[in-house]
Amino acid sequence: MKPKIEEVRGKKVTIRFEAAKCVHSRNCVLARPDVFVPNVEGEWIYPDRATPEEVAELAHACPSGAIQYERLDGGPNEAPPRVNVVRIRENGPLALHAEVRIAGQDAGMRVTLCRCGASANKPYCDSSHVAKGFAASGEAPTKESSALAVRNGPVNVTPTVDGPLKVQGPLEVVTGTGRTILRTTETYLCRCGASSNKPYCDGTHKKIGFKSG
Ligand code: SF4
Ligand code: FES
Repeated sequence: MKPKIEEVRGKKVTIRFEAAKCVHSRNCVLARPDVFVPNVEGEWIYPDRATPEEVAELAHACPSGAIQYERLDGGPNEAPPRVNVVRIRENGPLALHAEVRIAGQDAGMRVTLCRCGASANKPYCDSSHVAKGFAASGEAPTKESSALAVRNGPVNVTPTVDGPLKVQGPLEVVTGTGRTILRTTETYLCRCGASSNKPYCDGTHKKIGFKSG
């Protein structure tokens, strides 16, 4: 069995890959199939085939945080974003880019969180939305909101029991096409898949008897 986190140390950079978090956006294997070699048995990650800067770029393009890196050449490691964003992925998860803490634990800067209710790895997405045939627009309506005084800093996610994701901290909610629909410092995001007001919770989780455990 493969370890939970595969770690491959190159000469200038170490790459870590956590399969359980991968949402198969395939950015990595499409951008650099020489570094992340798809569809092979055994070894498939080759850090030395790219510069550390290129590896960093590949990791930053990984929405789920499945790819992490650590530079060994003295170059900068991943910096927090200047603007915290949660992107609503059509028929898929919520992609959060911020200094994320989940239930009080450091969760890195890129995470994809289940919003269909079916993940076996909650609160993370495990791509169960595909098998479930989850249908949800990535283009929710825009709500009136004012500019945030501070747009970055820690974002605390609390997965409530049998209920939504409570999200606290400066955050801009952005659609798949890049439209900002809400600027907030606290919101509740649906993770049961049944809200009529997606991406926000509207209490439907109680009616459908959603179980988060
Ligand atoms: S989520 Fe990350 S690791 Fe998974 S396919 Fe996409 S870019 Fe690659
Ligand atoms: S979590 Fe889906 S409606 Fe509350």
